[in-house]
Amino acid sequence: MSLNETTSSNLRVREATLDDVDGWVTAMLAGYEIDHQFVYRYPFRKQYPEDARSASAAVFKNFIANPNTVPLVAEAPIERPDGSSTGKWTIAAIACWEWRSIDDVENEAHPSSFSAPGTTRRDMDPQRQKVFIDAIVASEKRHFGPEWGRSRIELQDLACDPRFSRRGAGTALTRWGLRKAQDQGLPVMLTASPLGRLIYKKLGFQDLEYVECGIEGEEEKVGTWVMVWTPQGWEKPEQHAQ
Ligand SMILES: CC(C)(COP(=O)(O)OP(=O)(O)OC[C@H]1O[C@@H](n2cnc3c(N)ncnc32)[C@H](O)[C@@H]1OP(=O)(O)O)[C@@H](O)C(=O)NCCC(=O)NCCS
Repeated sequence: MSLNETTSSNLRVREATLDDVDGWVTAMLAGYEIDHQFVYRYPFRKQYPEDARSASAAVFKNFIANPNTVPLVAEAPIERPDGSSTGKWTIAAIACWEWRSIDDVENEAHPSSFSAPGTTRRDMDPQRQKVFIDAIVASEKRHFGPEWGRSRIELQDLACDPRFSRRGAGTALTRWGLRKAQDQGLPVMLTASPLGRLIYKKLGFQDLEYVECGIEGEEEKVGTWVMVWTPQGWEKPEQHAQ
């Protein structure tokens, strides 16, 4: 699948601005409803929807303020029941890309898209959040080391409102980052949910590890794939070459 291939439907992808906060949060929360990792970590989201919204808005505002993160939206045209165009657009899917350095990985930086377990959002199970974050950070330390060079791009968030699923929004938002990576000669890393992995595999990502985590003594576990993609012509830094 080529990076420049256009999507099958008339979606448009652009960088998000602060004005997108409500649309961003709505699409994100709708999308993550079908993601087991999210549902596992935020089991009280139906009881405290206002906490889920305000904490997600805070994460989005941090993305906007952070010069190393680029939040994106994929928009779909709003059509009238007869199929004619209203000329207006709505947010169908969201993503956030982050430019990171090896120092972030070695210093076990807190993932930018997750609320810290210590925050007071009532929709979250802090113990599950901690177990999950610890597993992600440890897997990044195991796999995203200096063998990939000092700079890299990571996909921190990807979600599509189910009303717009299978129209290519997730793929288009992922391709946006791969094009940047190709232009800048940087590898791309991420940890994937089962649905996300379907897209990443099609776009040429390689699996590095499957990680499962859960609270000791509890039956329920969540799984994540650690994945990497390298641009055409990319070579490992010299000291790591075979
Ligand atoms: C992952 C997600 C963002 C995909 O969004 P999307 O806009 O529907 O994705 P696309 O239309 O680009 O789909 C690309 C491919 O993924 C696969 N796919 C996507 N959704 C699927 C589904 N529900 N069932 C089976 N395959 C699916 C298909 O192979 C699809 O290609 P196809 O439609 O040509 O067969 C969306 O399912 C989602 O929000 N999931 C929950 C959150 C999540 O898991 N995010 C990823 C975090 S790593």
